Amino acid sequence: MERFVIPHDHFIRKEDRRKLNKHGSVIVWFTGLPSSGKSTLANEVEKVLIQRHIRTYILDGDNIRVGLCNDLGFSAEDREENIRRIGEVSKLFVDAGVLVLSAFVSPYRKDRDRIREIVEDAEFIEVFVDCPVEECENRDVKGLYKKAREGIIKGFTGIDDPYEEPLNAEITVKTKDRTIEDSTAELVAYLEDKGLIPKG
Ligand code: ADX
Repeated sequence: MERFVIPHDHFIRKEDRRKLNKHGSVIVWFTGLPSSGKSTLANEVEKVLIQRHIRTYILDGDNIRVGLCNDLGFSAEDREENIRRIGEVSKLFVDAGVLVLSAFVSPYRKDRDRIREIVEDAEFIEVFVDCPVEECENRDVKGLYKKAREGIIKGFTGIDDPYEEPLNAEITVKTKDRTIEDSTAELVAYLEDKGLIPKG
């Protein structure tokens, strides 16, 4: 298909929005097995950031798979497209000056790496929410591991579909051995150290 898409040069830029907001804008990308604690952690971090007047937004299955990606399932191709779209949306949030917290299983390394490539250096912070599959299955927040074991769900990440651990995550958070308060504090400290948010 021949396309003539000529971008309009916007007058107001990302840097202007960041200056206005008085903080940086990046993608904090939470990846991990179902029930590993991605959304829980994203929510706790967001609470702290909002108290500090940081503009944030959480993207997760609850607001993406019901809308923008409601045409997609869980085949490798659909997951790839899911993550591609979320990557593009996350990038728009970065451009809008927002610190976006994106929490998705995103099991394939190449799909995550592609997002890193479409944004500038240091705008993609990969957070590996590391939890043994046995523990995730014990938690089974949505009862889906049980359904996968019963064969009702096929191709469930961690049971009969692979999860590829990050090789160079900026942060690894082990949610089995640590309190949520500790993990949250570690993430917030990282953002402070990188100069993305003012020190609290
Ligand atoms: S991803 O693989 O494309 O990144 P995403 O994070 O959007 O997945 O959605 C994962 C959520 O969908 C899981 O937390 C779980 O609640 C649900 N789910 C339903 N079917 C599957 C499946 N086959 N594999 C993994 N998660 C599934």
